[in-house]
Amino acid sequence: MKKLNIALVGCGFMGRTHSNAFRKVTNFFDTPYQPVLKRICARNGEKAKTFADRWGFESVETDWRKLIDDKDVDLIDIASPNDTHAEIAIAAAKAGKMVMCEKPLGRNPTESEAMVKAVEDAKVANMVWYNYRRVPAVTLAKQLIDEGRLGRIFHYRTVFLQDWTISSDLPQGGEGLWRLDASIAGSGVTGDLLAHNIDTALWLNGGIEEVTAMTETFIKTRKHSLTGKEEPVKIDDASAFLARFKNGSLATFEATRYARGHKALYTFEINGEKASIIWDLHDLHRLQYFDHNDVSKLRGWRSIHVTDTEHPYMKHWWVPGLQIGYEHTFIHQVADFLTDLGGGKSASPTFREALATDYVTAAVLESAASKTWVKVR
Ligand SMILES: NC(=O)c1ccc[n+]([C@@H]2O[C@H](COP(=O)([O-])OP(=O)(O)OC[C@H]3O[C@@H](n4cnc5c(N)ncnc54)[C@H](O)[C@@H]3O)[C@@H](O)[C@H]2O)c1
Repeated sequence: MKKLNIALVGCGFMGRTHSNAFRKVTNFFDTPYQPVLKRICARNGEKAKTFADRWGFESVETDWRKLIDDKDVDLIDIASPNDTHAEIAIAAAKAGKMVMCEKPLGRNPTESEAMVKAVEDAKVANMVWYNYRRVPAVTLAKQLIDEGRLGRIFHYRTVFLQDWTISSDLPQGGEGLWRLDASIAGSGVTGDLLAHNIDTALWLNGGIEEVTAMTETFIKTRKHSLTGKEEPVKIDDASAFLARFKNGSLATFEATRYARGHKALYTFEINGEKASIIWDLHDLHRLQYFDHNDVSKLRGWRSIHVTDTEHPYMKHWWVPGLQIGYEHTFIHQVADFLTDLGGGKSASPTFREALATDYVTAAVLESAASKTWVKVR
């Protein structure tokens, strides 16, 4: 196995999921490359050192620019807030490094297009961490749709609901709260949560033609953690849109951080001519499936426990019937990246594929502002 030297930027939530995936992938998958945790980069050196000791990184940097000319680094993995993605990815690609980047690609399509151009000009392997594609039940849904089992698709219905920003005392900006600061995040739930729903939907059901949206910012001002001042909130707290897919199906998308009682309720339902599918992140190893071809007296919703060896990714794990969880989606993504790298290509979603999601989120925000239907680029 060839060594692949990784430099990871960011040691928060995603820094942990990625480090875990790089460490474990070759314990479970046969891949042509072995990831080596070479450098961890975060602005706070002490935190980065603690993180390096815990996860086994060889050394620490506090400025990501030092990674760009580091001859011992093959791949830069970006797991820092959204305002850092474009600058780091473009510099890394120009230096000939492979790039993995957290979602959303950029804060807006202009940044994302520049990122796509940089990796394509440099011809470096690239991938965006839309990890929900690699939940075995979601991958199984993709297989069932591609096999034509749903037939013509009529409806796509999806939500992503949370409740952690309801308190008006919650500040915006700074460590842990950058998602509420539009200058860092780009947008609110549209780019943060709906980006996931959109990526999965584009993958399962093809391109979106047009959207009409509404967004709301329920709490108009919040104290900013960095300035100490009460400042306008510029992110969307809630976002809902109707969409028309290129295949003629209709869709509803909704995301909010004001759905009291919900922490991360991501669901989708797809209704086809012959069959329907429901998936729910809170029960992520199950796929609900209704097949109209079943004999009528036995027809009903099946709850498929996606844990058998013939299910996607599952033969690499335990024995049939034993389930896996959230962290495994990142391990699957690294496994696919390394396998595809061995085959001389980038794993999906590439930067270019992820740009399609940013075009939809941009159309959603434009539609909410203009109160009109907007064609997706
Ligand atoms: N794929 C997913 O499901 C998923 C889930 C959560 C977050 N994300 C994405 O991952 C990224 C990070 O989110 P998070 O939840 O891990 O955030 P976080 O706040 O938990 O961690 C961010 C980390 O980046 C570091 N950082 C900030 N600015 C930096 C800089 N200039 N240089 C180096 N390090 C810097 C911070 O110190 C911190 O360690 C975001 O783009 C977010 O949208 C994706």
